[in-house]
Amino acid sequence: MRVLVIGGGGREHAMAWALARSERVSEVLVAPGNAGTAREPKVRNVQVGAEDIPALVQMAREHQVAFTVVGPEAPLVAGVVDAFQEAGLRCLGPTADAAELEGSKAFAKAFMARNGIPTAAYESFDHLDAAQDYIREQKAPLVVKADGLASGKGVEVAATKDDAMLAAERMLSGQAFGEAGRRVVVEECLQGEELSFIALVDGEDVLAMASSQDHKPRDDGDQGPNTGGMGAYSPAPLMDGPLYERVMETIVRPTVRGLAAEGRPYQGFLYAGLMVDERGEPRVLEYNCRLGDPEAQPLLFRLRSDFAELCMAALDKELNATTMEWDPRTAVGVVMVAAGYPGSVERGDPIDGLDEPEPADTKVFHGGTAIDGEGRVVTNGGRVLCCCALGERVSDAQAAAYRRVAGIHWDGVFYRRDIGAKAIARENRG
Ligand code: AMP
Ligand code: GLY
Repeated sequence: MRVLVIGGGGREHAMAWALARSERVSEVLVAPGNAGTAREPKVRNVQVGAEDIPALVQMAREHQVAFTVVGPEAPLVAGVVDAFQEAGLRCLGPTADAAELEGSKAFAKAFMARNGIPTAAYESFDHLDAAQDYIREQKAPLVVKADGLASGKGVEVAATKDDAMLAAERMLSGQAFGEAGRRVVVEECLQGEELSFIALVDGEDVLAMASSQDHKPRDDGDQGPNTGGMGAYSPAPLMDGPLYERVMETIVRPTVRGLAAEGRPYQGFLYAGLMVDERGEPRVLEYNCRLGDPEAQPLLFRLRSDFAELCMAALDKELNATTMEWDPRTAVGVVMVAAGYPGSVERGDPIDGLDEPEPADTKVFHGGTAIDGEGRVVTNGGRVLCCCALGERVSDAQAAAYRRVAGIHWDGVFYRRDIGAKAIARENRG
């Protein structure tokens, strides 16, 4: 059968690669894809934008696609799954109603409050006066968030009340994130260690994926500006059995039950960004209505089950009878970014070192790459590549991933040198 992946980043390259490994899949189309998906066996790019919903529906019909999987949040929030369903096409992801969990932070916070799901104390505001009154009464640090989608940039962790006031002003005036910032959430700043919890959901039943951990700040030692993610690993040693039970019982199952009860049944990948405090209590920082990027790259690199079968089980509401098998080793993924990221970046720099034979147990997933007029692979975005490797210990996987990174170069390439360090510290404490 032929399947379709919507999106063109590193997560989508990993999804296309995982689907292409399935014996049941003859061809994977990716809209619009990148240079990595263009060069992947059994995978073909189609020049349709990830947010052009009518063209996506038409293309899926014309190519007789058996099912579609959506990578990024924007088409989900805009209703791509609703449009596919109306056309009688199978499409894995939440409908626009359910994707509001990511599309509106004010909705997500109110939903958590109604359903008793642990999260930071908060208020949401449409007007600056009320936001400022509230900020005055709170203790710094505070977190100010644009309500709508802002490409992962709509969150400001403000060290002082003055900074929080300024952030609220820039957002509410429309200056910072346009319409997405016309409503803000102001919340308590949580302390602890962040963890990504991702599950596949079929409307009712939940199948948790292996644990993973992202690295949001740009620089080593978690310094510098926040990014979409500079690297990830799976499993995350922080996620032990008791914490897993706690997350499922207090967060994931109540979320899925609550959405169903409110008439927004959730199907697709559900991502809870968690803060785990020193007592081991998890709270939700945010929901995402999709797989994480870069978490998907090390996760899918470790997946031993047939990814196409898993997607179909979710579409058929058969997750209660399904399991996921994982490579017991650790996967580490190091993201290589273009100069200037997370700000604006140059495009079109030729990338050297991609034609070397891929060493065993490593894989370079492409993100912002393209093939230029001369057939060269060039940079085409901020997060360019994610070099993944498997290893018995986290330190082995990390060393193998950085060996791969060392062989790749372009002008202005940048990456963190400490991806996996927290897990290695835990491993060494043993
Ligand atoms: P979000 O887009 O909501 O994931 O926020 C981006 C990042 O901001 C998170 O990954 C955290 O590092 C940080 N963050 C968000 N909310 C909070 C909070 N309430 N307390 C502390 N850090 C937060
Ligand atoms: N890695 C975080 C995200 O996908 O939002």
